Amino acid sequence: MTRWRLIAGNWKMNGLSNALSEVTAIAMAAERHGEVDVALCVPATLIERAVRAAPGFMIGGQDIRSEASGAFTGDSSAAMLIDAGARLTIVGHSERRQGHGERDAAVKAKAEAGLGAGLSVILCVGESDEVRSAGQAVAHVAAQLDQSLPATIGDPAALSIAYEPIWAIGTGKVAGVAEIGEMHAVLRARLVAAYGDAGQGVRILYGGSVKASNAAEIFGVPDVDGALVGGASLTSADFIPIIFAAARPGR
Ligand code: PGA
Repeated sequence: MTRWRLIAGNWKMNGLSNALSEVTAIAMAAERHGEVDVALCVPATLIERAVRAAPGFMIGGQDIRSEASGAFTGDSSAAMLIDAGARLTIVGHSERRQGHGERDAAVKAKAEAGLGAGLSVILCVGESDEVRSAGQAVAHVAAQLDQSLPATIGDPAALSIAYEPIWAIGTGKVAGVAEIGEMHAVLRARLVAAYGDAGQGVRILYGGSVKASNAAEIFGVPDVDGALVGGASLTSADFIPIIFAAARPGR
């Protein structure tokens, strides 16, 4: 099953109106590279304006609540993101799992709500430094995936898994190609166990200090279908070379 690479930027809590010119520049570069999917997950406050600044380009949010509506101060539903023009959302980012106490069951409910509403979903998993030092990384991440995965999927291309070792996020430390390859092979096997053949169509992204200088090497690892990029997605100057690296032929 052919999987197009997906390069998704995660702006986290960064971006005011003056960043919209970066969205436009990134969208224009993405258009020139047809064989790679590119998206930017911007703060909720910017979604609608980012969609207007780059018509046709894939804009996403960074989290949703699983409920459709109700007394949940500060949260947004999948329908709200779609209403603002978003086409995808991240769920289960480690900054939400750690900072907001989100457990696997909540992440699973968010993933199911997002897919059910028609959003594409990037579901994040990843181990801490302590877990890796204890030799438990693979077991930990596999269990996290099993417990966070939606029960069923329709179009497998609507779901992506982002393997993001917590110790590599925003630190400049990148997992080695052997570590990435080992983890992505395990995640692929778990996806096939969960969904059969459709599990081959789910993209597995790597995330954690991806930048222009290491992107090509990471994209060369089997079962790496793209990247979730934080810091290096904030400017077109940093992000466009990562898109170029993903679009390079030879996969
Ligand atoms: P980073 O963040 O690229 O800045 O390490 C990645 C992420 O948290 O998604």
